[in-house]
Amino acid sequence: MRTNDAQMLVLCALADGPLHGYAINAAIEKLSGERLGPGSLYGALARLESKALIEPLEGEGRQRPMRLTAEGHEVLEREVRSMAEVAGRMFEAAVPDRIGYLDRLAGTDQARSYKQVMLDALAVRPGHTALDLGCGPGTDLAVLAEAVTPSGTVIGIDADPEMAARARERTADLPVVDVRIADAQALPLADASVDRARTDRTLQHVADPAQVLAEARRVLRPGGRLVMGEPDWDSLAIDHPDPEISHAYTRHITERIVRNGVIGRQLPRLATEAGFAVPAVVPVTSVFRDTRSADRILGFQRNAERAAAAGYLSEEATGRFLDHLAEGTFFAAVTLYVVVAEVAEAGAQPSS
Ligand SMILES: C[S@@+](CC[C@H](N)C(=O)[O-])C[C@H]1O[C@@H](n2cnc3c(N)ncnc32)[C@H](O)[C@@H]1O
Repeated sequence: MRTNDAQMLVLCALADGPLHGYAINAAIEKLSGERLGPGSLYGALARLESKALIEPLEGEGRQRPMRLTAEGHEVLEREVRSMAEVAGRMFEAAVPDRIGYLDRLAGTDQARSYKQVMLDALAVRPGHTALDLGCGPGTDLAVLAEAVTPSGTVIGIDADPEMAARARERTADLPVVDVRIADAQALPLADASVDRARTDRTLQHVADPAQVLAEARRVLRPGGRLVMGEPDWDSLAIDHPDPEISHAYTRHITERIVRNGVIGRQLPRLATEAGFAVPAVVPVTSVFRDTRSADRILGFQRNAERAAAAGYLSEEATGRFLDHLAEGTFFAAVTLYVVVAEVAEAGAQPSS
């Protein structure tokens, strides 16, 4: 039944009571925005009648209004229930607002896990000045504030005034936190004035990641440390019986959706070129086994539709991709690299 839209539309149209052919089609137009062609309408009516899901009203002359039988009501209710379940279970239709999206992501086990790796690597101490480059709505500022308290300072930088405003609002009761609207590529900070700095999925978006690294290098004190947590979207592996479809989906994300889609793997090189030592690179792979929670982060439907519009997937492949994600056993994984970069201590000899 689910695959036969014309029959389903007729059942829906008759849900409120008997109607004749013309009125059924008017009700269908109201429901779906389009009328059925005469062939589809009368074909659907004949098939539903032969299955005893609808029946003509007696004694109504040539117009023969049709109504749902008890079995027709039952089938319709079953279909509606299962469609409601599917709608509630699967892909998110609307694009979430940016702050809501960041908050939601920060609340996932996957984010908590890599953020803890970053915090441990940053080794913030009381009295430090810690800098969060691209602090967003203040996601990590309170944790940093706790670590530098009582005598340190946390500076949150974000280029987006809305993000900075929300970060200020959320840290209003934390006097050690100072949020500034600024470009991480041109920091409003003195040379060698900071002990610790972090970027958390910021470099994937900036126009010139090397420039952010140069600025971080400039403002960090000798012995200072920069910890970066950035994804490598090329590692996005989604299981599908036809791997070429998931490759195409991933290629589209890397090439068209994220500005610096493979920044994760580039960080050790970029940090070295900026004059840092890179003592550690920690891969953190997030594994998703549930379509719905993965969709909240990865936005499958809207990104698959964008991939189709950009020519990475055919309409048919997009349908197969989404159908499998919705109905099959789900698996997806993506790797984010936590890269630790250090400024040499004053007077230290560069290692050869
Ligand atoms: C993916 S969000 C991450 C936010 C936050 N770090 C978190 O973990 O929730 C990236 C943030 O970087 C900011 N951003 C992008 N380009 C920037 C730039 N050139 N300078 C400063 N911030 C920037 C964005 O406004 C956004 O808030």
